[in-house]
Amino acid sequence: MQDFIRDMPKAELHVHLEGTLEPEHIFALAERNQIEMEYKTPEEVIAAYNFHDLPSFLAIYYAAMGVLQTEEDFFELTYHYFLRAHEDNIVYVEPFFDPQGHTSRGVSFATVINGIHRAQVAAREKLGIESNLIMCFLRDASAESAMQHLHMSLAYRDWIIGVGLDSDEKDNPPSKFREVFALARQEGYKLTMHCDVNQVDIVDHIWQCLDDIEVDRIDHGINSLEDEKLCQEIASRGLGLTVCPVSNRFVVQSLTSQEIKAMLARRMKVSIHSDDPGYFRAYLTDNYLALIEEAEFSRAEIMQLNRHAFETSWAEDEQKQRYLEQLQQYSS
Ligand code: ADE
Ligand code: ZN
Repeated sequence: MQDFIRDMPKAELHVHLEGTLEPEHIFALAERNQIEMEYKTPEEVIAAYNFHDLPSFLAIYYAAMGVLQTEEDFFELTYHYFLRAHEDNIVYVEPFFDPQGHTSRGVSFATVINGIHRAQVAAREKLGIESNLIMCFLRDASAESAMQHLHMSLAYRDWIIGVGLDSDEKDNPPSKFREVFALARQEGYKLTMHCDVNQVDIVDHIWQCLDDIEVDRIDHGINSLEDEKLCQEIASRGLGLTVCPVSNRFVVQSLTSQEIKAMLARRMKVSIHSDDPGYFRAYLTDNYLALIEEAEFSRAEIMQLNRHAFETSWAEDEQKQRYLEQLQQYSS
């Protein structure tokens, strides 16, 4: 089963590029960019990764991304991630990036996206990995700031497939960004939003994603199981739910294997992803392997989870069909 999972061609739809920063890389970039570090060794950094909720994780995540300064830094970050993804037999990625985490520090939108895009092109040419970029807005920043960044992104419209919403969910509901997402939709972007596990008013937030925003996908969304009607609506719309087991374990002390099974039983298109693998110390294969340690999953169930990732991806139809055939061949 472990070999089957490792070698299976996979799709990654929920990975924050800034969340792939490895401790050693944080140190190398800090030295190169002459940034003073609070910690003295990569081991000390890892020891500080004792997250217990979303804000405690985000505090370290935003502090560390300060080492990213130049276009080359963003290229390296992204290309390192693709090299690691290649080891996991990932063939298709929709990575997130957080432009406001950089423009707020004086790093230009162009610097960030030029570096990321160059790495995407190199990964396609050298590793055969296809990718489509998703720009996330920080929900604890203002709707005006999100709107400004949406306008900035339009100069790079062809390099971005969709927009998402991440960061601290408390008191920052989807409806705060109704106009921003409506305009993004008009511009042809696909829409997704984080509905992180066990947040205040989370079931209401998921309903807002459906009714007010009309999202194309949901990131996490585990708490939809608290409302049977909500589950039915998600299933009937065929919406993907990108669940990240190891990331969830930091908040709910479980890999949410039973919730994942409950979603499969309700024909919800749940799939498995890694979120912030540099911080949670688990890439995509590791997430699947952790999951099958917590609960029994058949090969057919693992295949189904991975098939959902390709089906609910925003790859072109023909490309999607090709991946699904490749997967079918792999299992037969
Ligand atoms: N930003 C990076 N990782 C995140 C997560 N898991 N939830 C919300 N915002 C994030
Ligand atoms: Zn996430």
